[in-house]
Amino acid sequence: MNLLSSNDLSKEQIERIFGIADSVLAGKEEAALKEGSILALLFQKPSTRTRVSFEAAMAQLGGATIYIDAMTSQMSRGESFADTSRILSSYCDFIAARLNSHADLLQMADSSSVPVINALTDLEHPTQALADIYTIRNHRHNLKGTKIAFMGDIATNTANSLMVTAAKLGMEISLIGPKNYAPNAVYFNKAREYSTVYVHDTPEEGLEDANIIYTDTFVSMGQEKEAEERRRIFAPYQVNAHALELAREDALVMHCLPAHRGEEITDDVLDGPRSIVWEQAKNKMLIAKAVLLFLSV
Ligand code: CP
Ligand code: NVA
Repeated sequence: MNLLSSNDLSKEQIERIFGIADSVLAGKEEAALKEGSILALLFQKPSTRTRVSFEAAMAQLGGATIYIDAMTSQMSRGESFADTSRILSSYCDFIAARLNSHADLLQMADSSSVPVINALTDLEHPTQALADIYTIRNHRHNLKGTKIAFMGDIATNTANSLMVTAAKLGMEISLIGPKNYAPNAVYFNKAREYSTVYVHDTPEEGLEDANIIYTDTFVSMGQEKEAEERRRIFAPYQVNAHALELAREDALVMHCLPAHRGEEITDDVLDGPRSIVWEQAKNKMLIAKAVLLFLSV
């Protein structure tokens, strides 16, 4: 089994991963990795949290990791994703890949003899969404009916994975962003199969009754050429003190990080009492462990 897309996980599987994370946290792991397990981390894009949380998770579970910067591998000279994956899977027990293109990840999975984990692509960030919802679950008694508002670039990878994962658990979703940056239709329609998903172009409408306000960068990795235009167009969707006033009084704030302070979120909100961003980031390691254990059974 792989973890390539949030679309592939059923509600029961998501809950199983959360259950494993709870057991790991309580020090009562039900599952274990095969002795001497190795995780290959193949990255085409930068990472701090995803890379380090998987490396630390693997070390604490008794395994080892090998980090491969795609640019210093033979991929930089044209070796295919399929051939690379075939080779890595003959040495290692898992592959986690952060790739520019989701289609390349699917190719890697096709040629791999071991589980492949999506560590972010242009379309998705499924392990992030798991860490996000796991964090929300620690604060909200009932996920069903909890309203999460994603404000900013609602067509980005984190929004895609988050809306599908949240919807499967019965959360209500509000997507707030500029009219010309519509959500990705595939993920939007998938999320609507499970729950209510609203799209708004004003924070006033979209944040009403929100329990959670979530944001991500306005300029994702690979979009640097559009940076200036994006910063201008998305500016009205900043998560700031005014945005907090529009949501529920006890609304919590989340961000997958890295934050661009003063762009999509202000310092006072990110570092303020309503922010659960640091807990959310910390939970990435617990979810990394849970995902590895889930895929090894
Ligand atoms: N949230 C997240 O994926 O962070 P990194 O890019 O640092 O891995
Ligand atoms: N949407 C962001 C997420 C970073 C974790 C990006 O792709 O750069």
